[in-house]
Amino acid sequence: MKKIKILSVVGARPNFMKIAPLLREFRKHKRIESVLVHTGQHYSCSMSDIFIKELKIGRHIALKAGPGEPIEQVKKIMGRFRKVLVKERPDIVVVVGDVNSTLACALVSASLGIKVAHVEAGLRSFDFSMPEEINRKFTDAISDYLFVTEPSGLKNLRDEAIPDERIFFVGNIMIDSLVSSIKAARKKNTLSLLGVKRREYALLTLHRPSNVDNANSLSRIVNILKKIAKMTTIVYPAHPRAVKMLKALGYWENLKRINNIIITRPLGYLDFLRLMIDAKFVLTDSGGIQEETTYLGIPCFTIRKNTERPVTITQGTNTLVGDNQKLLISLISRLPRRIKRKIPKLWDGKTARRITAILMRAASG
Ligand code: UD1
Repeated sequence: MKKIKILSVVGARPNFMKIAPLLREFRKHKRIESVLVHTGQHYSCSMSDIFIKELKIGRHIALKAGPGEPIEQVKKIMGRFRKVLVKERPDIVVVVGDVNSTLACALVSASLGIKVAHVEAGLRSFDFSMPEEINRKFTDAISDYLFVTEPSGLKNLRDEAIPDERIFFVGNIMIDSLVSSIKAARKKNTLSLLGVKRREYALLTLHRPSNVDNANSLSRIVNILKKIAKMTTIVYPAHPRAVKMLKALGYWENLKRINNIIITRPLGYLDFLRLMIDAKFVLTDSGGIQEETTYLGIPCFTIRKNTERPVTITQGTNTLVGDNQKLLISLISRLPRRIKRKIPKLWDGKTARRITAILMRAASG
């Protein structure tokens, strides 16, 4: 039987959790020749290397694009990725999520006539001030196989007149990583290292430009954290972008002065998962964390006005709080002991298997 060459792309932190289960699945099939490209959009140890190690991602071609203004970054990635494609000539390129690397690599592949598979297709916040929304929409428009995580994705793609034969509802690949890592995460002694106890701390992450790139929202966030810290300990693994802005806009010292807040570097996946499992609640503006907390049944308060992942609200544990401090404090002070939620359909740890089967069928046909 003819071999299939599949080239997958990672670029930034949330991509590693989405690509690892696929690479593992590809390795099980002799017919598949799998190549991985790392664009280097995130490049530091805590935002990249640790995940390669923990998730056993293995060898890759490094484009070393590094940081930069988005358009410059996309341009750099496109130039370097084109050279790789001309040399490797894969049958299919797999891109995941919504980062600049996703769009850049999808564009180059489509321009060379190579089939593109987009994992996590169809998510829409309908908020074009988010760079990710533009990345999602354009990547979907030029992809041949659109792998969807939740029902809203199916509707969004149909509303954009994407033909049904390109759309596949396969479930959530991030949950594959979570399911396969949960045992190892439970063995971690992260809580005792940080000196916190089960269900007695809140876990915080922040990095979205709308929250960390201006003084008004940072000042609001620091104020609300002061109030929350009076009720419970906060563990805050600080994203480099947020630290940079907190320092530049003069809020870093204010934040550090809050009693009861433990600030750490960004954590590895297993340590972070360990902290999510036992948190009293999670406060975040991340995309992926809304989904992981839904699966784990941990209350999640999202500091955004919209989400591209509505199933985490309708079925899961997520509540959008935007910048409504009163709402957040009142929700935190009357947290139920047990939160009702349904695990969304096909969030079952088998998404990589379904995607691989579809790609193999497509390449044979
Ligand atoms: C978001 C952006 C994406 C951007 C990225 C930057 C959206 C919808 N997308 O993705 O375009 O490039 O942020 O980081 O907002 N985790 C750790 N250690 C930590 C914190 C989180 O391992 O200290 C894990 C979480 O368990 C999860 C993943 O990292 O698996 C989430 O990464 P995050 O950076 O929050 O990504 P998103 O918000 O999904």
